[in-house]
Amino acid sequence: MKIGFYNIQGGTGKTTIAANFAYILSHSAKTILIDCDIYGGTTALLFGLEDKEHNLNTYLSGDSAIEDIIYQYDDLAIIHTDVSSRVFGYKVDLYRFEDLIKTLEEEYDVIVYDFPPNITEDNPLVGYVGEFELVNKVVIVGEDSIPSIVNSLKSMELIRDLGIGLTGIIINKYKGLTDISEIIDDVIGILPYDQNVERQWVESTPIVKIKTKFTKEMTKLTNELASVYLEKDLASLRALKLAKAISELTEEEKLEKELEFKDLE
Ligand SMILES: Nc1ncnc2c1ncn2[C@@H]1O[C@H](COP(=O)(O)OP(=O)(O)OP(=O)(O)O)[C@@H](O)[C@H]1O
Ligand SMILES: [Mg+2]
Repeated sequence: MKIGFYNIQGGTGKTTIAANFAYILSHSAKTILIDCDIYGGTTALLFGLEDKEHNLNTYLSGDSAIEDIIYQYDDLAIIHTDVSSRVFGYKVDLYRFEDLIKTLEEEYDVIVYDFPPNITEDNPLVGYVGEFELVNKVVIVGEDSIPSIVNSLKSMELIRDLGIGLTGIIINKYKGLTDISEIIDDVIGILPYDQNVERQWVESTPIVKIKTKFTKEMTKLTNELASVYLEKDLASLRALKLAKAISELTEEEKLEKELEFKDLE
């Protein structure tokens, strides 16, 4: 399962939602969060990784191996980007991105992408052209102002034009001024404006580790999304892994596994 958060508009809360969504999911599925913004990524700040030597920039420029760039925060695996002005000096090869995802897919149930807002070639969401499906579900993160609604609608169209599965839109920083679901279709969740969210940057902690109004709604939304969109994928993934494992067993071991499986049912 490869799910990404996007909007052509900056600052709507993509990083906040991607990171907290991934953090919550990591308790129940093997999850990795990838910050795809090689020039303006901020995931490092959210998890206190800004001093680490390896990151997505060093990997894409051929200076780091995959295993070097994965950092662990509680149950969540994270690939962050450089937050210094060195970002302008890397010679990035985006083709290395495909190798990265193919390798990670073997090991993780869920890959969560935090996409940058731009539509330039260095954004894997729009810049990648190939047979391989880099992402299968995209969620648009927008705000409830008129300019932001216009940009969210444009973003949705872009995703559809790219032929990528569109899950819907999350309205973030909602102040309760309008009934948003009456204005646009495909709203899959609404998250409140909560000034406590800023604390996550100061404390280098995903905000859902702290009890806030945002945490309550973010947790509810993640669980809803997981049950609607992810559970089926995870179940089929597990079944596939199990089938693979069984095919490698001896007849006797197979019988044992089948009995074990029956017990579970
Ligand atoms: N629900 C919320 N309530 C209050 N502030 C929020 C909320 N969600 C995000 N923010 C704040 O809005 C700012 C932008 O959030 P964030 O960095 O997650 O957006 P982004 O879409 O990833 O931005 P960029 O386009 O630069 O990558 C941050 O300061 C963040 O703390
Ligand atoms: Mg961001």
